[in-house]
Amino acid sequence: MSSALLTPSELASRLDSIPRIRLAHLPTPLDECPRLSEMLGGPRIFIKRDDMTGLAFGGNKTRQLEFLLAEVLTQKIDVLVAGAFTQSNWCRQITAASRKLGIDVSLILAHGEKGPNRQGNLLLDELMGAQVQVVDLNDIQQLPPLLEAEAERLQKTGRHPFIIDPFRPDVLARSALGYVQAVLEMEMQFETIGIRPDWVYVSGANMTPAGLSLGFQILDLKTRVFGIAPIQWDEDRSVDIARIANATSRLLECKLELTADDILSSDDYIGERYGVTTQAGRDALKLVAETEGIFLDPVYTSKAMAGLIDHIQKGIIQKNDTVVFIHTGGLPAIFAYAEDLILP
Ligand SMILES: Cc1ncc(COP(=O)(O)O)c(C=O)c1O
Repeated sequence: MSSALLTPSELASRLDSIPRIRLAHLPTPLDECPRLSEMLGGPRIFIKRDDMTGLAFGGNKTRQLEFLLAEVLTQKIDVLVAGAFTQSNWCRQITAASRKLGIDVSLILAHGEKGPNRQGNLLLDELMGAQVQVVDLNDIQQLPPLLEAEAERLQKTGRHPFIIDPFRPDVLARSALGYVQAVLEMEMQFETIGIRPDWVYVSGANMTPAGLSLGFQILDLKTRVFGIAPIQWDEDRSVDIARIANATSRLLECKLELTADDILSSDDYIGERYGVTTQAGRDALKLVAETEGIFLDPVYTSKAMAGLIDHIQKGIIQKNDTVVFIHTGGLPAIFAYAEDLILP
């Protein structure tokens, strides 16, 4: 007997009762990658093409913003204030979503690795008419006070700002609903194709692996979610991801509580630091492009694929297993990272 907490249709009706706006082209395709599988010696590999969610070059953030912005729009808001690094996919997708919704955007972007170079995501932010300030920060955790100050400045000019603070627990929990919904979407695709994946691999710092881990466990699908972290945080990723998943579980009025032991996460593929490419990541990007004609991005998905490949080589993923790799997008950064990618 299944020990699932909810059936797929019960989970679907819980999700339907939560405010959501439609931004993504769904369902995204689930592509089988036979040439990549063969090169890697066996496991069946599928790529869930969330790089094709459709909003300003796509990516995982589109699903998350469907739930987050629906909540924000219940308030009287005319400008969003957000921030991260200049090559932020999150800010590019926030900008695109807000343009569709007729809202302005003010971005505070830390230099990161690529600085104010008008390429990739930063170029797209500017083309969409975001107001952009590029700042030098030693630590991205210094961002929230700058967002507060910008919101105050806007308020004084009569505007109605809303700060999207990526560290706020309620922002993380609501956004993670996007990947609970993605589990339901995949479950239908798995049924249609007739597969029961052993693994889902994903580049994830927080909301994405939280939503996926929660979704698979609510439905008790026995598929293990492995998050490959793109960035080093002080706090253990499994602890943080479990906390976000539990807050999301409460939004769904679900009794499931995850612990850090339920979360599989690795920091082993970050390399020197966030935003700096690794040899293994560059090799993974080239391998997937050469075998399947699919592009990964330099900062997130190429490092996650490097983790997946290493886990195949180490036997963590076995020859007869089936793996789904979630392509979380990030593709505009390829152009900002051109010089890093053509290293000999
Ligand atoms: C392309 C891409 N993949 C993965 C992630 C990680 O997503 P999350 O922070 O939801 O775990 C991000 C976050 O910025 C991203 O842009």
